[in-house]
Amino acid sequence: MKAFRNGASLSSAASGCILRPHHTPTPLNRIRVSGGGLARQRGVDVGGRVLSSISTRITTSRSYSIDHGTAKPPPPPPFAFAFDIDGVLLHVAKPIPGATYALKQLQKRNIPFILLTNGGGKHETDRVKDLSNRLGIELTTDNFVQSHTPFQELVHHGHNSEGLRDKNILVTGSDAAKCRDIAERYGFKNVIIPADILAAQPTIWPFEPLMKEVYAATARPLPSPNPKIDAIFVFNDPRDWALDIQIIADLLLSQQGVLGTYSPKNGNADLPNEGWQRDGQPPLFFSNPDLFWSAAYPLPRFGQGAFQAALAGVWDEVTGGRAELERTTIGKPHARTYGFAERVLNAHRARMLSADGPDKLEPLKRVYMVGDNPASDIRGANEYVSPLGTRWKSILVRTGVWSPERGGSPAYEPDVIVKDVREAVDMVLAREAW
Ligand code: G3P
Ligand code: MG
Repeated sequence: MKAFRNGASLSSAASGCILRPHHTPTPLNRIRVSGGGLARQRGVDVGGRVLSSISTRITTSRSYSIDHGTAKPPPPPPFAFAFDIDGVLLHVAKPIPGATYALKQLQKRNIPFILLTNGGGKHETDRVKDLSNRLGIELTTDNFVQSHTPFQELVHHGHNSEGLRDKNILVTGSDAAKCRDIAERYGFKNVIIPADILAAQPTIWPFEPLMKEVYAATARPLPSPNPKIDAIFVFNDPRDWALDIQIIADLLLSQQGVLGTYSPKNGNADLPNEGWQRDGQPPLFFSNPDLFWSAAYPLPRFGQGAFQAALAGVWDEVTGGRAELERTTIGKPHARTYGFAERVLNAHRARMLSADGPDKLEPLKRVYMVGDNPASDIRGANEYVSPLGTRWKSILVRTGVWSPERGGSPAYEPDVIVKDVREAVDMVLAREAW
């Protein structure tokens, strides 16, 4: 098994778990994984304290020191978890073995966690209800971040600081009507979807529409014959790439975001960026850069990043390769999403743990990001620099996008590779002696 750089390799009988300490105070000895639990060895330094106990399986929860008559509550945990969903907890609708166990272990110990997914397409309240049912565990929107959740911040503090609440925005995704519902529940007031445009201007797409019935059933009248579109959002993985690319490209080539116009600046070599996207065209927001994701099929599937690449490829052809497609992409691995997730996690942790008042709560020291995609989960955790000094550590599972059989070592090196989410949680609880 490949030993990671400057790491005490942590070889496990059960799963090939490898540990690369990330600024660990003192070198770790070896922790052996045996049969789903972790046996500690004498003198193992865990989270900065040397443990004297020897080879005790970690099955009990944290022991409390109880004086006669007065039970001192344990100090709040200085660490928390962030869990990716697809490929870590679920394969689409099917829970991955160990997922419920892992989350329940944390709930039992009052250890905070958030779910941090590049998935989307449902409103947060609907998705957490669905996840709670599938995983058999109580989840709330308090500790749940989807790919498009940060778009909420653009309602009042939109692009170029002005909010987009009352602006015309184009929204698309796997079910654009559902994405419109989400956007409206976020607070956007004028949400247009491709179906509206197709219904109002059927010749915009010269072929028989693929999803004619869907478009007919979900279209709404446009606010005006040729509305100015002020921003474009891809909420989650589009389905009808052809129509979406046509309409988005039309808007990026337009004058001031008015469909049916063409900017005279396009391709003007005397202008910056040769005039492309320099005539008041709407900013383009993607919620997720994932080229692949782990679904029910045994091999990874194309995600929103593939759609983005297709659009960028068309844009490259349209501009003769003279202009990059200008866009804003959030979602893992981007710091904007990790910063948003850290704020959600700290607010959730404060609600959970600050019995004596939020200012009394010890700051969060470590977040363990458990993910399946090196390019999003691992890279994001490795590269995120917390303004609060919190250390994000990356744990890669073998149940999702990454597999040594497909491309060897992970493109972004995690702190640890483990079999699955169960082993990830068991290992961290051992290291943190919690
Ligand atoms: O569309 C979902 C996919 O991009 C990945 O989701 O949960 O693995 O971040 P997740
Ligand atoms: Mg995933």
